[in-house]
Amino acid sequence: MKSGGKSHISGSFHTEQEWKIIMSGYEELRNRPIGVFDSGVGGLTVAREIMRQLPNERIVYFGDTARVPYGSKSQDTITKFSRQIVRFLQTQGVKAIVVACNSASAYALDELEQEVDIPIIGVVKPGTKAAIMATKNGKIGVIATEATTGSGIYSRYIKENDSGATILCKACPLFVPLVEEGLWEDPVTDEIARRYLTELIDVGIDTLILGCTHYPIIRSTIGRIMGDGVTLVNPAYETARELKELLREQGLESEHRPELGTELYRFFVSDGADKFQKFANSILTYGILSAKVINIDEY
Ligand code: DGL
Repeated sequence: MKSGGKSHISGSFHTEQEWKIIMSGYEELRNRPIGVFDSGVGGLTVAREIMRQLPNERIVYFGDTARVPYGSKSQDTITKFSRQIVRFLQTQGVKAIVVACNSASAYALDELEQEVDIPIIGVVKPGTKAAIMATKNGKIGVIATEATTGSGIYSRYIKENDSGATILCKACPLFVPLVEEGLWEDPVTDEIARRYLTELIDVGIDTLILGCTHYPIIRSTIGRIMGDGVTLVNPAYETARELKELLREQGLESEHRPELGTELYRFFVSDGADKFQKFANSILTYGILSAKVINIDEY
């Protein structure tokens, strides 16, 4: 890269001084946080996986707790909300964004990709990849919100990559409030899950995508009802893996782990910071000290 006191980058020559400025900007970019957002707390299951697989990365998390759920809203509304959140995350200097909400990934990601100039990924594509790899009989089930199932996005992506697959999508709208109410291991959740999942058991799926970021929290209930023969796919794992790959490809990986006290993880919500904080502390291995409420309508 360097030649006789000059440095050559992409066809233009720079002085040592210019080179230093360029490199410091690059280093600074690498060390910026990753923006992660969801309609509320569900995206914490994705944030948790990013923390585990990418321990060097800072995270700025936004949960739209004032406007949750997204799963019963229209594409226009979900896209408008997602745009505001992306604008907010950009004010925090993020270097990449993870749409840690299936409903927003299904309805808004295509537009967001056109509008931002930093890498942005959702959770749907990574989830379908993992399911295609896991299935043996080609029968894949997807459980998700009404928005995600209504968008047809999981079926479309699976068919694009495995045209012979049989896909059964099932909206499970009551799972989100059950999770939010903390009924993670409860006879009520068991009963509702049995009603939703019987159809999927009857068609003989061997792989089930947890296509809503809240669902991994009741994974043990879902797994117990589906039985040992069904592989549960949590798209969070594959999303974090894909993010890691993307950052590596683009030279955006943070080089060293920031100290915990240096704002490694920051949390913002649109309402109910105390409830969010309590919830986050029951999901994350890292204890969060505070979540800040912001007015997302300003963005
Ligand atoms: N986070 C949403 C999703 O993954 C579920 C909660 C909601 O409906 O907003 O689709």
